[in-house]
Amino acid sequence: MIQTDVLILGSGIGGLSTAIQIARQRPDLKITVLTKTNEGESNTRYAQGGVAAVWNEEVDSYEKHEEDTLDAGDGLCDVDIVKIVVKEGPERVREIIDWGARFDKNPKAEYDLGREGGHSENRILHYKDLTGWEIQRTLMAKADEFSNIEVLEHYFAVDIITQHHLGYMVTRLMPDIECYGAYALNKQTGEIEKLLAKVTVIATGGAGQIYRATTNPVIASGDGIAMVYRAKGWVENMEFVQFHPTALYNPAGENPVFLVSEAVRGYGGILKNRNGEEFMHKYDERKSFGSRDIVARAIDNEMKLSGDECMFLDCRHLNKEGFTAHFPTIYEKCMSIGIDPMKDMIPVVPACHYMCGGIKVDEMGRSNIQQLYACGECTCTGLHGANRLASNSLLEAMVFAKRIAEDILPKLIIFLSRIVFPIGMRRVRPTPRKWY
Ligand code: FAD
Ligand code: SIN
Repeated sequence: MIQTDVLILGSGIGGLSTAIQIARQRPDLKITVLTKTNEGESNTRYAQGGVAAVWNEEVDSYEKHEEDTLDAGDGLCDVDIVKIVVKEGPERVREIIDWGARFDKNPKAEYDLGREGGHSENRILHYKDLTGWEIQRTLMAKADEFSNIEVLEHYFAVDIITQHHLGYMVTRLMPDIECYGAYALNKQTGEIEKLLAKVTVIATGGAGQIYRATTNPVIASGDGIAMVYRAKGWVENMEFVQFHPTALYNPAGENPVFLVSEAVRGYGGILKNRNGEEFMHKYDERKSFGSRDIVARAIDNEMKLSGDECMFLDCRHLNKEGFTAHFPTIYEKCMSIGIDPMKDMIPVVPACHYMCGGIKVDEMGRSNIQQLYACGECTCTGLHGANRLASNSLLEAMVFAKRIAEDILPKLIIFLSRIVFPIGMRRVRPTPRKWY
C-alpha cells in the first residue's frame, strides 16, 4: 500500500502541470503521479499545432478568442468558463515559457503566431510541428526539479476507491461520495496495489482509441472517465467526439493515424478534391479556415459524393524551405510513404481526435465526488461545448491545473484529518437509506 498526499493519475499536460503547480507552493506535500506506460507517452506528446492564447493585443483581444471558442462550440459552451480560460491562458503560457518551453520566433524575435481553423486571428504559439513534444519535455524536466513529486511508471489505475469499497451502497444521486485514492495494477509485478490519498486528481486524457481510425496514441482509452462513471460520478457531453479533418490517408493502415496539422492550412495549404478543385467554399465562407467540425463534415460529404477514399491538401505552391522548417515531421512522414508535399497533393481523411465531454468538473476542477478533481482531456469543463476550438486543449489543461492547485492547497489541512484514521478503521457515515 502507498500513502500519499496528492495522487495524480496521468503524466500528460494535465497531470504534470497539476503536480508542478502544487509542488512549487508546498514542498512538504508528497505528490505521486501514476502513469500506465512511461512518463513521456501521452496525447500531449503528439500535439502538433500549438497553444492558442491572446498574445498580441494590438490586433487580438480576449473578446475575439472568446467569440471564436463560443462559435466553434456551437452555442453549447459555458460562457463563464470560456472567459476564465481565455483570460488566464496567456499567463499560463508565459509560465511554461519560464519553465523552459521553446516556442518558435520570427526573424524579429517575436513569437511566430500561427493560425488554425475557427480562429479569427493568428494566436497559436508553437514549436515547429512538435509543440506537444516540447511541452512534455519541459514539464518532465520541471517536475524532476521537485523532490516531492514521484512519478510511478507502468502503473495502470483501475478504479478509484470510495465508500463502495468499504461495503456501502453508492448511487449516482448521492451528494457525499468520497474518494480515498485508487487501485492500480503494478505492471511490473502484476499485483494490484492500493494507493491512499488525501486528494486524487484524474488526468488520464481522452478516449480516441475506442475508434478504429484515431490520431490518439494507444494510451487514450478513456480509463479515467470510465473509473468515475463506475464510481457513480458525473460525466457529461460524451456524445461530442471531435473528428480532425486532416489525418494522413495511408492505405497501408496504421494505429494511430498520422495527423496533418491544421496549421498547414494556416500556412497556406488548400483543401481540394482528386481533380485539384477546391470545395470548402460550398460549406463555409471561411473556406479552409472553418471550424474543425464543419471542415471534417465537408470532407466526409465530398468523399461520399465522389466515392473517393480521401480528399487532398495541396501545398505544392508553398516554399519548400519554409514548409520543411515549419513542418519537419509532417514532411518526413509524407516522404516516408512516397508523397512529396512539394510535388504531390497530401491525401487526407477525417479521424477521431478529441473527446469534448468527460468527467463533469466545476470552475476549480472539482468533480461531484469529494476529494476528487480532474484535469485535461478527461474532463468536461464547459469550455468546448459541442466542438473544441483548435489548440484550446493544452491551454485548458494549464489553466485548470493552476486552479486545482489553488483549490486543493487551503483544504489539505481538512483532508488531513481523514488520513489520521487509516481507511477501514474510520467510521464512514453510512449512506442514508433514501438513496438506496
Ligand atoms: P494526455 O496527454 O493524453 O495524458 C494522459 C496520461 O494519462 C498519460 O500519461 C497516460 O499514460 C495516462 N493514463 C491513461 N490512462 C491511465 C491509467 N488507467 N492509469 C494510469 N495512467 C493512465 N491540443 C492542442 O491544444 N493543440 C494541439 O496542437 C494539439 N494537437 C494534437 C495532435 C494530436 C496528434 C493529438 C492526439 C492531440 C492533439 N491535441 C492538441 C489535443 C491535446 O494534445 C490533448 O487534448 C492533451 O494533450 C491532453 O492532455 P491530458 O494531460 O489531458 O492527457
Ligand atoms: C492540429 O495541429 O491540427 C491539432 C490541433 C488541436 O488538436 O488542437
